[in-house]
Amino acid sequence: MTDVNGLSIGILGGTGDQGKGLARRFALAGHPVLIGSRSARRAQEAAESVGAGATGDENAAVASQAGLVIVAVPYDGHKALLESLRAELAGKIVVDCVNPLGFDKQGAYALPVEEGSAAQQAAAVLTESRVVAAFHHVSAVVLMDPSVEKVDLDVLVLGDDREATSTVQALAEAIPGVRGVYGGRLRNACQVEALTANIISINRRYKAHAGLRVTDI
Ligand SMILES: NC(=O)c1ccc[n+]([C@@H]2O[C@H](COP(=O)([O-])OP(=O)(O)OC[C@H]3O[C@@H](n4cnc5c(N)ncnc54)[C@H](OP(=O)(O)O)[C@@H]3O)[C@@H](O)[C@H]2O)c1
Repeated sequence: MTDVNGLSIGILGGTGDQGKGLARRFALAGHPVLIGSRSARRAQEAAESVGAGATGDENAAVASQAGLVIVAVPYDGHKALLESLRAELAGKIVVDCVNPLGFDKQGAYALPVEEGSAAQQAAAVLTESRVVAAFHHVSAVVLMDPSVEKVDLDVLVLGDDREATSTVQALAEAIPGVRGVYGGRLRNACQVEALTANIISINRRYKAHAGLRVTDI
């Protein structure tokens, strides 16, 4: 298992539920965590609410200072944000957890993405970064819940750079209960992002925060 001890984690859009949830779990695991936002003030407020030593700053500062950067913004703002941070993110592992989804009366559904998936869109923009797709199916509610000591799910990790996917698998396992499972090349991220629509349907029907487990590995 790759050693990720001490790796600093930056989270773009870390003021949202998903960003704060991941920030909390990684900070509790002992990682330096930098919460990013379009507003330094909002980032600092979010960092205070997360605690455990997390700090907050503007997205660009976080992107340049963190060792590994997670993108946790809505799909709407995804491409433009990454285009503005190409230089800061060059040479880094960038983890995309963005689910391009629409919602209507029938619930959630997957949106078409010209590049194939949000993760491939990130890779198309960030040609100097190592883009990995992961954390799509982790519920922010569960990550934030202090009564949940162990998060019962596998995190599917996809990418074209083996060292980068191994690093992100190890990072996923910093969250107690989680297993990081390699899920294929980035060209297969579309299904993983779209599957979130099914999980949201499951959650609505069964009033749950469902997670996935892969068997026989
Ligand atoms: N929520 C979950 O359970 C969950 C689970 C798995 C994956 N995800 C994925 O994680 C991402 C974030 O989810 P979320 O629920 O945390 O979303 P969110 O609360 O709607 O947004 C997260 C943050 O993104 C920033 N943001 C919003 N619009 C932006 C724009 N146009 N450009 C740049 N930044 C923008 C905002 O921060 P500032 O205003 O402070 O900049 C906001 O606090 C989504 O892509 C989602 O698909 C979510």
